Amino acid sequence: KKVVLAYSGGLDTSVILHWLVETYGCEVVTFTADLGQGEELEPARSKAKAFGVKQIYIEDLREEFVRDFVFPMFRANALYEGEYLLGTSIARPLIAKRQVQIAHESGADAVAHGATGKGNDQVRFELGYYGLDPNIKVIAPWREWDLLSREKLLAYAEDHGIPIEGKKEGGGSPYSMDANLLHISYEGGVLEDPWTPAQETMWRWTVAPERAPEQPHFIELTFERGDPVAIDSERLSPAALLARLNVLGGEHGIGRADIVENRYVGMKSRGCYETPGGTILLRAHRAMESITLDRESAHLKDELMPRYAKLIYNGYWWSPERRALQALIDETQRSVNGVVRLKLYKGSVEIIGRRSESDSLFDPSIATFEDDAGAYDQKDASGFIRLNALRLRVVAARRR
Ligand code: ARG
Ligand code: SIN
Repeated sequence: KKVVLAYSGGLDTSVILHWLVETYGCEVVTFTADLGQGEELEPARSKAKAFGVKQIYIEDLREEFVRDFVFPMFRANALYEGEYLLGTSIARPLIAKRQVQIAHESGADAVAHGATGKGNDQVRFELGYYGLDPNIKVIAPWREWDLLSREKLLAYAEDHGIPIEGKKEGGGSPYSMDANLLHISYEGGVLEDPWTPAQETMWRWTVAPERAPEQPHFIELTFERGDPVAIDSERLSPAALLARLNVLGGEHGIGRADIVENRYVGMKSRGCYETPGGTILLRAHRAMESITLDRESAHLKDELMPRYAKLIYNGYWWSPERRALQALIDETQRSVNGVVRLKLYKGSVEIIGRRSESDSLFDPSIATFEDDAGAYDQKDASGFIRLNALRLRVVAARRR
């Protein structure tokens, strides 16, 4: 019996590593992924080695994460409950996918994760596992063991000689954090009171808008088929592009959110998020679509978007309905090519221009307030309005 553990090297997953061996007597394969969380991965290797793990997988998945997960999601303009850019939600399907692949490669029959039994992450990981391998065995230590408090966890670590170094998820921070190239999230601690404002010292990627530079920063973002490919005409890989937008957004105080959201498991939860690059990208992508998408395609996307966002939030990335929606969304993006010009200034993202040589549907000769040389016959509008008004007039007549 062999199990592949999603291992960060932090206290929680180190305890899980010991607990798995002790409880199941199984061999553990560790898997640690770089999704751009900005943490050293080598400590995870040395810790796993020190514990006697024989198969240690450490992988840089940043490009795949942005190219195959973040960008496809942004083609939909996905936002959960009007505010959350889904930074954690979109990373789980990739981790689940690699874990299942590693299980197959290494001859393991089970996978394990360190998400608690109270949140969304357990659902996302496990729906991913089952969606990719119907026969996989799943071990969720947080739902099985009795180490239900921080103290018990620490006591277990001490008893078993697991190095603590004041380290839990987030490097001794008082919050439950999750970071990757798309965002940082903060939950728990003082945030559990939704009336208490977040402390300024909590934020790690963004300056406060009021302390951002007095000078605005202008950028041009180039899109191809709905995905950003260049900043100021410099072509960048997906991960490099998002990283660059994060730095720019962070400097200008862009992308903070303080939200109470509805978790899939039923509770409300307060969280703070920093998504600087994603916030810029969402605005820019919508602006690009505004001139390249036909009205009804755009409106259809907007109607489907909340469904799509909910499906990702709830963990259904590897589902038939997500694939079907994705095919529709991707089809619309064939014409989403061009350049958007933006102004970043003290927490705001302003669109100041958009153009598309190949795909613009914006026709100044039709829209003009000047003479349009017969492109639009104003007389047509009379019949258009008369017919649309017909049923309103019937109702109005009846009411009289
Ligand atoms: N509430 C957010 C979500 O459900 C963030 C979860 C953060 N996860 C974590 N393990 N700290 O997507
Ligand atoms: C967790 O419970 O592991 C983090 C929060 C969440 O999954 O929503």
